[in-house]
Amino acid sequence: MTVFLLLKTLHIIGATVLFGTGAGIAFFMLMAHRTRDARIIAHTAGVVVVADTIFTATAVLLQPLTGAGLAMLAGYPLQHGWLLASLALYVVVGAFWLPVVWMQLRMRDLAAHAAASASALPPTYFRLWRLWFAFGFPAFAAVIAIIWLMVTKPSF
Ligand code: HEM
Repeated sequence: MTVFLLLKTLHIIGATVLFGTGAGIAFFMLMAHRTRDARIIAHTAGVVVVADTIFTATAVLLQPLTGAGLAMLAGYPLQHGWLLASLALYVVVGAFWLPVVWMQLRMRDLAAHAAASASALPPTYFRLWRLWFAFGFPAFAAVIAIIWLMVTKPSF
């Protein structure tokens, strides 16, 4: 296998990890939230924080590296239309993902506190939940747009 194809395989694995972990986390957080059970929410949010650290953060760091390697080997300058658009969208994804990581930590702690003190989930938890949910849409839309740009490589 050539270096290019090896890098491309790693790059595509990175894309599936980014998309798959994101979609999985969104689903399991939603399922936990729907129980309204502070113990279940605290546990799920805790697992989600670990999953984001191991899988998402690693893929977030490696994706631009494998991508830059591919661009170099294929001879695409990074300011090339679809590549530049993808990089801009990648910044958008990061701008929505970083606050989401913080929100997950806060939601985990608020739910753990509610479970430990046998009290109801506080209004701050529900505010964070709505914001967390809303931030997922632009982030997912941007990831899908990047995948589309990478696959179709439109000339504009
Ligand atoms: C962050 C900076 C990124 C750079 C510089 C970059 C660069 C590249 C380049 C140059 C290719 C073309 C390889 C070829 O000519 O066959 C490619 C392919 C691909 N990229 Fe990226 N990429 C980046 C991020 C992403 C992200 C975030 C995703 C998805 C989550 C992604 C998904 C893909 C996929 C699926 C392909 C394969 C397309 C195909 O072979 O038809 N890339 N990338």
